[in-house]
Amino acid sequence: MMNSSSRQSLKVSFLTSPLKGKINVPGDKSISHRALMFSALAIGETHISGLLEGEDVMRTAQAMRFLGAHVHRQDFSEWHVIGKGVGNLEEPHDVLDMGNSGTSARLLSGILSTHPFFSVMTGDRSLRKRPMARVIEPLSQTGAQFLTRNKGRLPIAIQGVDKAKSIYYRLPVASAQVKSSILLAGLNAEGMTVVEEPIATRDHTENMLNHFGVMIKIETLENEGKKISLQGPALLRAKNIHVPGDPSSAAFIMVAATLLPGSEVLIENVGLNPLRTGIIKALLMMGADIQIMNERQEVGEKTGNILIKYAKLHGVDIPASMVPSMVDEFPVLSIAAAYANGITRFMGLAELRLKESDRFTSIMNMLRKNGILVDEKDDDLIIQGASGNIPGNGEVTTHMDHRLAMSASILGLVAQKPVMIDDVSFISTSFPKYFDLMNSLGCQFQI
Ligand code: S3P
Repeated sequence: MMNSSSRQSLKVSFLTSPLKGKINVPGDKSISHRALMFSALAIGETHISGLLEGEDVMRTAQAMRFLGAHVHRQDFSEWHVIGKGVGNLEEPHDVLDMGNSGTSARLLSGILSTHPFFSVMTGDRSLRKRPMARVIEPLSQTGAQFLTRNKGRLPIAIQGVDKAKSIYYRLPVASAQVKSSILLAGLNAEGMTVVEEPIATRDHTENMLNHFGVMIKIETLENEGKKISLQGPALLRAKNIHVPGDPSSAAFIMVAATLLPGSEVLIENVGLNPLRTGIIKALLMMGADIQIMNERQEVGEKTGNILIKYAKLHGVDIPASMVPSMVDEFPVLSIAAAYANGITRFMGLAELRLKESDRFTSIMNMLRKNGILVDEKDDDLIIQGASGNIPGNGEVTTHMDHRLAMSASILGLVAQKPVMIDDVSFISTSFPKYFDLMNSLGCQFQI
């Protein structure tokens, strides 16, 4: 398995054959983090199947062990957790290192703020640049204290509070991480914790808390917003979890199969939570041939199979209202837009500047270096599609960003001249065995 500590460059050449086959993608990253955190907060034993064993999720597993939970790997993607119960986590004896994982850092801050002990959290060079003030500001209202580097950057020190105050908070940005962090703090606060979100974001936290027996009230606000309330202190009862495949990982295969003539790929058991499937909607708007089959409900989450066949794409406008349901998919959708006929506009991408890399700039650089015309206007990206003739021959700098590295690998498959990627090692944070899986469908990546 690759490790993000050892840099690894890759040259990707045009693929002349189609992608064919039936596969499963690794477990959903968002749900995997939550499965480990919530089972550690539950009373009793939880069996988790389908857990993503990427480096980000392994950071969460290690943190929950440091906090006193029993977290044990039984077999491939099969994990067993004995929880400590809300309020009963233990002070960690060392620094909690969250690696590259923003979700671990933001969600865990919520848990730590309402447990009355001291902790310190850090991360890698990418995570240490990302803003934590967006969670620290609301979480401070519980009575917890935070000391941070450089106005809200990691490392941070947290003094959690006993008898925490509950919070009423309206999110200034659409962020499931901030929403979840506050709800997790609310589990051990006195009274009703309420979060209002202006646009609905992924609701895996709400679904999983519900699965663990916590009463969550969800009201719909005007303009598609939501108001989520929970009464603390709450009790979570252990209950087994099956993690579906990650639609954000499936997105790379969906785009590759759509662009490579003759392709036909079936991806089984993928999460189809409507707040995550913006990428399917966007590709369909562009003319993709995607069918959803065997839809079902598992552990409070919609799942199903996705059949993708080659199709010719045309440019479209992606409105800002679609961003939360596909916030991680813009790097790979930019490759589809670059290959399509006509102009594609991505609107309202401000949040992309705060991801594992500044994805707004990274996408522009990746495409421009490979001969695609891209314009920016405020927070919008305008991509001039090359009607199947992407020149290539450029180097992509990935800035420790797994999704940029995978997107660049798809770019290389469809560009006329090879694409050089400076570092693909960070792919293991979310998609271990990415290259093996792509090769099983007919790619010829040489690692
Ligand atoms: C996530 C929420 C999103 C997403 C991230 C995972 C989550 O981040 O980009 O990959 O699991 O809650 P934001 O909350 O910053 O939008």
